[in-house]
Amino acid sequence: MMPATATRSVVPDATIPPVALRPDAMQSIEALLDSAEAATRDLTGARPARDGGKETLHAWLERVKAVRGRLGYFPYLGSGRGRGPLVELLDGSVKWDLINGIGVHMFGHGDREVMRASLQAALGDTVMQGNLQYNADSVAFAEFLAAEAAKHSAMKHCFVTNSGCMANESALKICMQKRNGAPRVLAFSDCFMGRSITMSQIGDEPGYRHGVALSTLVDYVPFYEPEMGARSIEMSVWHLKEALRRWPGQHACFVSELVQGEGGFKTAPREFHVALMQACREAGVPVWDDEVQTFGRTTSMFAFEALGLGEYIDVVTVGKMTQACACLYSEAFNPKPGLLAGTFSASVSSFHTGLSVLRRMQSGGYYGPEGRIAKLHAAFRTHAEALVNKHPEWFPPAKLPFGRESRQFVGGTGGMMRLTPFGGDKDRIGRLLQNLFEDGVIAFYCGHGPYHLRFLPPIGVMQPEHFGEVFAILEKSMARTA
Ligand SMILES: Cc1ncc(COP(=O)(O)O)c(C=O)c1O
Repeated sequence: MMPATATRSVVPDATIPPVALRPDAMQSIEALLDSAEAATRDLTGARPARDGGKETLHAWLERVKAVRGRLGYFPYLGSGRGRGPLVELLDGSVKWDLINGIGVHMFGHGDREVMRASLQAALGDTVMQGNLQYNADSVAFAEFLAAEAAKHSAMKHCFVTNSGCMANESALKICMQKRNGAPRVLAFSDCFMGRSITMSQIGDEPGYRHGVALSTLVDYVPFYEPEMGARSIEMSVWHLKEALRRWPGQHACFVSELVQGEGGFKTAPREFHVALMQACREAGVPVWDDEVQTFGRTTSMFAFEALGLGEYIDVVTVGKMTQACACLYSEAFNPKPGLLAGTFSASVSSFHTGLSVLRRMQSGGYYGPEGRIAKLHAAFRTHAEALVNKHPEWFPPAKLPFGRESRQFVGGTGGMMRLTPFGGDKDRIGRLLQNLFEDGVIAFYCGHGPYHLRFLPPIGVMQPEHFGEVFAILEKSMARTA
């Protein structure tokens, strides 16, 4: 007999929410959600700290410093309250959250459907699921991603992981096994792939591998430079082919971020990627597409779909807004038993909220050239270009390698938005980010020189008109930084 408190029953159909609750539990959840929503109605725009708030936050930041050994990039500690793109900090201040922990919360803060999925998950029988013991929701989550990938590529299998980095580790292992232990990796200059020993070596930022014993052999290919046009494609293909010639049969894969994230929100036309992927195909080198940051943010769910590159890709990794991360691959890349496993795949809540987010992404009108993401990007560009025109003194050309200059002050694509003031100078961008934070907007930087302001807004809840207030704050912060 079930204990009196039990309210769940097993749902055999993995396409519906797997933690099925009795109507009384569902009603209680709705009451909790009403209460949570009522408790955040006062969050309507950015506001400064309340009286005494700064002292409370400071005391907590001292605790952060003591326990972690250092402070984070921003004096940030959330109160646990938020509403859409707005988040409240422990000092009572409210800020526009346009970075979302680097792209994690598509529906921002305090979203009713996300909280509902999470509350349902909390009533499941365990907190975590893994590779030995798992429930139908983890299968439904993987099925969803596999079915989406299979629409425009040969990829149809999905291994779930608990971080983007572990998804990437899985992808690299799969490629290496397929290539009988080939030791080298082809990657783009300025790429970022995660923080494991291997990924921090492939990632092209010396500071992230400082003091790490090097064990991974990487050949870098320059990313597309719009200022160079077709010459840039020739140059990158030349670098790739040189590496293939120099190390025949030695490459496990070519890993590609189709839109560079940390590297500077750089985009490239389809012909650039095709030229490189075609060269890999001719050399028998697998192509792995790292979409941990791009997934969900371009004009289609997978960026490879928007660029029409599915036929060239053997393995793809996703993460962040999916809540649980994943490595997807074709039948030909299905690894031998034993290569991929792990105690945890993700939490029950990650599967529930992830699946709920994915379904809303699919049906919410976000994708396509006229979709909500494209419109949000257009609104960002309109405001950004107006700011550039109003204050040309804040936008000198950014210096590129070999003495070239860039006047592309506004960039990115879809839900990845970029602005390049102050010539892309690292220190001034850093000061601007701190001022902006203080004034009520949380953004971040990207690029390795020039540096840029990076925005990953919560695309599910950010409305084009919100940029009005955000840019008013940005103008104020830039004035005091300049
Ligand atoms: C392109 C890319 N790959 C991999 C990762 C690593 O993901 P995680 O931080 O979840 O390990 C990131 C994180 O920012 C990323 O942007």
